[in-house]
Amino acid sequence: MKKRCTAILLAAGKGSRMRSDVAKQYMLLKDKPLMWYALHAIESSAIIDDCILVTGKEELDYVREEIVEKFGFQKVDAIVAGGAQRYLSVGNALDAIAANAMRVPNRDGYVFIHDAARPFLTKELIESMYQAVCDCHACVAAVPSKDTVKIMDETGYVSETPDRNKVWNVQTPQVFDVSLILSAYEKLREYLEKSAQVQTVFTDDASIVEKFTDVKIKLVHGAYENIKITTPEDLKIAEILLK
Ligand code: CTP
Ligand code: MG
Repeated sequence: MKKRCTAILLAAGKGSRMRSDVAKQYMLLKDKPLMWYALHAIESSAIIDDCILVTGKEELDYVREEIVEKFGFQKVDAIVAGGAQRYLSVGNALDAIAANAMRVPNRDGYVFIHDAARPFLTKELIESMYQAVCDCHACVAAVPSKDTVKIMDETGYVSETPDRNKVWNVQTPQVFDVSLILSAYEKLREYLEKSAQVQTVFTDDASIVEKFTDVKIKLVHGAYENIKITTPEDLKIAEILLK
């Protein structure tokens, strides 16, 4: 039987690298706000049952009225305020699942965490992530790196060159068993409380599961088109990809 799948769509960032007046998730791509595209993919997917949308504290009403209600996204069950870091935004959404605050509780299904800044999410990718998570408990979309990657030391010199055949660029969705991601985030919170000095940066969810659990993360072939809109050039590329 198919297990319940909850999407967490992250749209609480400031978009500082875009250097735009409005945060990038609200910028128009063709005639829709950027975040509309991922919401549309979630809404159209037979795999995803419901969605927690994470936005800035000040934008909760705007997003409810001008995006969720205006475009009729039925799967959005909760709109929650994000935090100052991406992983804190995810944590706030996971709290809604842990507290059974959803219309239908998701106790033993899966969580699909996705960046609203990635408009080219497809039904096909959601489907292959679902197949993978059923087997592996934890998986992330990724593509082989086209560029050679260098590791830099503190002085700005190259310290290492990983074998390019082993280097993958990681995307979202990142998909986990509900119980696994809840327990990884619980451990993250304990860790953050204890370690006052660290400024550990967790830029994706898998790295939290890697650090705080023994579960191995499966890499699933994403798509080179599944870009993250980060800087102004990316919007131009997105316009071309939309055509
Ligand atoms: N995000 C979030 N909460 C944060 C930071 C990021 O929900 N505190 C979301 C963003 O809205 C985005 C996704 O996480 O959809 C990926 O983050 P990124 O591309 O870094 O977006 P921003 O943090 O908004 O951009 P920047 O880093 O340039 O400020
Ligand atoms: Mg960011």
